[in-house]
Amino acid sequence: MKLYSIHRHFPAHLCKVYKRNLSITVVVMAMTYLPTAAQYEVAVPQNVFNRKKTSLNGDWNYFVDRYEAFYYDFVRVPFDSSSLGKRDFAALDGKAKNKTERYEYSFEGSEKIRVPGDWNSQAKELLYYEGSIWYRKGFDLKEIRQNQKLLLHFGAANYRADVYVNGEKAGVHIGGFTPFAFDISTLVKAGENSLVVRVDNKRAKEAVPTDVTDWWNYGGITRDVSLLEFPKVFIQDYHVQLNPEKSDELYGYVELSESYSGPVYLRSKDLKVTITLDFKNQKKVFFNKKLTRSFIRWSPQQPKLYDFELSVSEDKVSDKIGLRTITTKGNQLLLNGKPLFLRGICAHEENPIRGGRNTSKEDALQLFKWAKDLNANYMRLAHYPHNEYMPRIADSLGILLWEEIPVYWTIDWTNDATYQNAEKQLTDMIARDRNRSSVIVWSLANETPNTDERLVFLKKIAAKTKSLDSTRLLSAALFKQNLGNSAYTISDPFAQYSDIVSFNQYLGWYEGTPDVLAKASFSLSEKKPVIVSEFGAGAKYGFRADNLTRWSEDYQNYLYQETLGFLDRIPNLVGFSPWILADFRSPRRQLPNIQDGWNRKGLVSQEGKYKQAFYTLQEYYKAKKDTYEGH
Ligand code: GCU
Repeated sequence: MKLYSIHRHFPAHLCKVYKRNLSITVVVMAMTYLPTAAQYEVAVPQNVFNRKKTSLNGDWNYFVDRYEAFYYDFVRVPFDSSSLGKRDFAALDGKAKNKTERYEYSFEGSEKIRVPGDWNSQAKELLYYEGSIWYRKGFDLKEIRQNQKLLLHFGAANYRADVYVNGEKAGVHIGGFTPFAFDISTLVKAGENSLVVRVDNKRAKEAVPTDVTDWWNYGGITRDVSLLEFPKVFIQDYHVQLNPEKSDELYGYVELSESYSGPVYLRSKDLKVTITLDFKNQKKVFFNKKLTRSFIRWSPQQPKLYDFELSVSEDKVSDKIGLRTITTKGNQLLLNGKPLFLRGICAHEENPIRGGRNTSKEDALQLFKWAKDLNANYMRLAHYPHNEYMPRIADSLGILLWEEIPVYWTIDWTNDATYQNAEKQLTDMIARDRNRSSVIVWSLANETPNTDERLVFLKKIAAKTKSLDSTRLLSAALFKQNLGNSAYTISDPFAQYSDIVSFNQYLGWYEGTPDVLAKASFSLSEKKPVIVSEFGAGAKYGFRADNLTRWSEDYQNYLYQETLGFLDRIPNLVGFSPWILADFRSPRRQLPNIQDGWNRKGLVSQEGKYKQAFYTLQEYYKAKKDTYEGH
């Protein structure tokens, strides 16, 4: 390859390096987006939420790295592996010590940004920013305790996070909506420590989600960051729930951080139960225990949570868990063996009033307040795992949840790295929320094309889901098929792998106007429960007109009235979740003075105001509530 101008600028030895690097570059670039074996990434312990921890939330220094100049050397080899010399990340903390020293970057004196939080809503110039941003946070450790593990935990960071502690690479995490952790015990020191994180939210075809979605690609460290200390042997994971087959039996397992011999206790004072698991050089032990006393089964009208405490030698963890079974029987959906109707609503993890990602308990409570006002007992958390406040609060409020991984629209179905990525996000979602009684459905995909490659992908991930958790139901938001004459059905082959057949339908919005709904009918050959996982129409709050004027509240309301009539005629319907609770940001929505970068299908406006259709659905759900024994 002819080396033009470079000679003038670089001594010979660098050119040799350049040639060599060029060949390396090609390989490395190809690998960059593949999850690397992160050196210190560890399985996230169960229930970090309730564990003692040191928060690293707050204002962090940051700078924008639009050209990736601090990640790649000039021939695009990541500094982590560049023979041109490792980027001294600790240096990012430094500043010129004398007048001649050359520094072209430093956190010293740089802007500050709030963590947790997306960057897009924190600085006007970052609203549309997609790329890398470097974060730095110092933290003090009084002492380094021997035999203690120190884990650095992130609730989530979108999309790829490269993490450095005191200049050393702790690891990489890919996936913007699930927790991850690194064991940094050997990277820290007593006194001041430096945590540097590069977050890159660039979209990519082979990523999960892929590069085309209908939501805002908020970037940043979007959830809590904390330090947790663990003794050598600690409670790594557990599952405590009622056995779906024998609903007066408690069953599950306890897994420790390493093999152990001795007793592990599972106690519940208010359930008056103690289970002693005798570990014999084992890491994981299963249990089942018949509950002899009566107890309250968790449900929307009685969201009773029992206190549980798990302990082993030096470690103890407490949790609040609701005991319930969720099953199907033919076309019925049964909660604790009783028919259930899901009065639902879809929601994105966004605070429309602030126009940013939800990060706090208050943000979550806001969404639940609106849902409760709707008389809803169920929410579809779209289209990715939301923060942990959602299932935790839903447990205490008695709201049932559908959780989903962002296998959305077109995914790189035959790319094994894409599959591994999706499966990891699923595994991490289930691991985090496996003890949440509110979570009843794992959804594996939304509106994906009916191709063979896709079916192979979804069948595989469905089998993985069942192997990870057989106590919940599996579904995916499918497309309906038009049989002609306004008759519809589901003939998608993935329906046979779903416990609940769910589909999105936009009759009256993407298909015709609301009057088409009166003659629409739906039938299903499968004897399974059916959920309509989306329907809706866009409306600009305050725009009133006749009910055939698009974007008016009246059109949206008319569509709701007509759709509710259509839904009442669907056999096996066990619930639905209209699209969507609140208006949300989307780069795909650019109609001036109506959308302006927002999807307006919310029942609640950007300002938090209720649209006409909100009251129509509120009324309908009130009536439904009274018929279903208050479930
Ligand atoms: C789709 C999709 C949503 C999208 C909605 C819409 O069905 O699942 O993510 O926002 O339709 O078009 O508004």
